[in-house]
Formats: sequence, C-alpha cells, structure tokens
Amino acid sequence: MRAFTDEPVPSDLIVDVLSRATRAPSGGNLQPWHLYLLNGEAMAKFRAIMDVRLADNPLGETPQYAVYPPNLKEPYRTRRFEIGEAMYQKLAIPRADKLARLAWLQNNDRFFGAPAALFCFTDRIMGPPQWSDLGMLLQTAMLLFEEAGLGTCAQEAWSRWPETVAKFVGAPDELMLFCGMAIGHPDRLAQVNMLRAARAPDAEVLTIL
Ligand SMILES: Cc1cc2nc3c(=O)[nH]c(=O)nc-3n(C[C@H](O)[C@H](O)[C@H](O)COP(=O)(O)O)c2cc1C
Repeated sequence: MRAFTDEPVPSDLIVDVLSRATRAPSGGNLQPWHLYLLNGEAMAKFRAIMDVRLADNPLGETPQYAVYPPNLKEPYRTRRFEIGEAMYQKLAIPRADKLARLAWLQNNDRFFGAPAALFCFTDRIMGPPQWSDLGMLLQTAMLLFEEAGLGTCAQEAWSRWPETVAKFVGAPDELMLFCGMAIGHPDRLAQVNMLRAARAPDAEVLTIL
C-alpha cells in the first residue's frame, strides 16, 4: 500500500502484531532484528525533522548498503524497470517528469502519509543469512497487519536516511538500518493502491527435477 488515510492506529495494536511477528523463524534463533516504532507524538516529531532534512538535501544521505547490485543484470533489471513504470502509470506521472518523480520519492520519506511506522535495524556483524531472517520477520508482520485490517509498505527507500533515522531513534552505532515500514489504514480509493505487481511465470523461477 502506498497511500494511507490519516485514521490513527493504536500503538497497542501494532505492538501486539509485532510481538506475534517475532515468532518468525531465524537461523540459530538469533532473532537479529531490532525494531523501533513511531506513532503519535514521536511520528509528528520525526515528520518535522524530515521536512527540514528534505528541504536541505532532497536526495538524502549516503546509503550504508546497496539496495540493488550495481549494473543489475537481466531479468532483474527489466522486472525493476517494469514495476517502476507500472507504478508511475497508476500515479499518472509521465516518464520525463523528473520533478514529479522526485516528489514521489519524497513521499516515501513521509511514509506515504501513514500515521505509524517502524524501522528495522540489524547488528552490523550480521551477514546475508541474518538479513534474510529480517525478511521473515517483516513478511510475518505484514501478513498480521493485513489480517488486522491495516496496510503496510516495506521501504528500503529509508536506506537514504541512515544517519537521520539512527539519531532520531537513538540506535547504537553497532546497529545498521535495513528498512522502514509504513503502517496505517490504506486509502482504498487511491489508484496507486490498485497496482497489482507482476510475477515471473513459475517456469522462470521453479525448476522441477
Ligand atoms: C524489503 C523491501 C523493501 C521495499 N522498499 C520499498 C520502497 O522503499 N518503496 C516502495 O514503494 N516499495 C518498496 N517495496 C515494495 C516492492 O516494490 C513490492 O513488494 C514489489 O514491487 C512487489 O509488489 P507487491 O508487494 O505489491 O506484490 C519494498 C519491498 C520489500 C520486500
């Protein structure tokens, strides 16, 4: 979901979902996730800080990890291109309109208007297996939020604000920001929320021996 109503979400409900989501499996039961919840007053404070940051530095800070590999090869490159085009089509933003695209990117930095959000960090010593565990946790949480009638958007776009986010939440230096997640009541009328992302056919991703 990438458009939300301003209907508040009680923190109790979010905490209940997250405490159940932490039943997600992780290799060696390391549970390498560190979550920070923003809601109510904390969210209002954070939004005010982001408004200032975005005015100073519209593109953001230096990311601490590469969201995509450099020179993304096929078929990944095309998949990424196509989802971007499909989304901008729903938003009625033409390809050439760089300013509107930047404004949309900055909408990521405002959690698409969601009233609540979380940030997911992991310890810097963790490697790919533990990062995949973070995905387990996040997907479990997203499904539980859906079951509770809420919508979410996982957001690697927050990799553009590692310093601002870490400072605001008070994360210790040994932790590294992976992603954010917008949480709220989806705006069911927003065209962008009607986007149904494509998937590769089974034959492309599944080999039956
Ligand atoms: C870890 C993770 C990070 C993501 N980051 C973003 C993001 O920053 N902004 C965004 O609009 N969508 C983000 N997405 C959503 C993906 O674009 C989306 O899952 C994908 O296009 C497939 O669409 P679907 O989940 O609606 O099927 C992210 C998804 C994941 C799993």
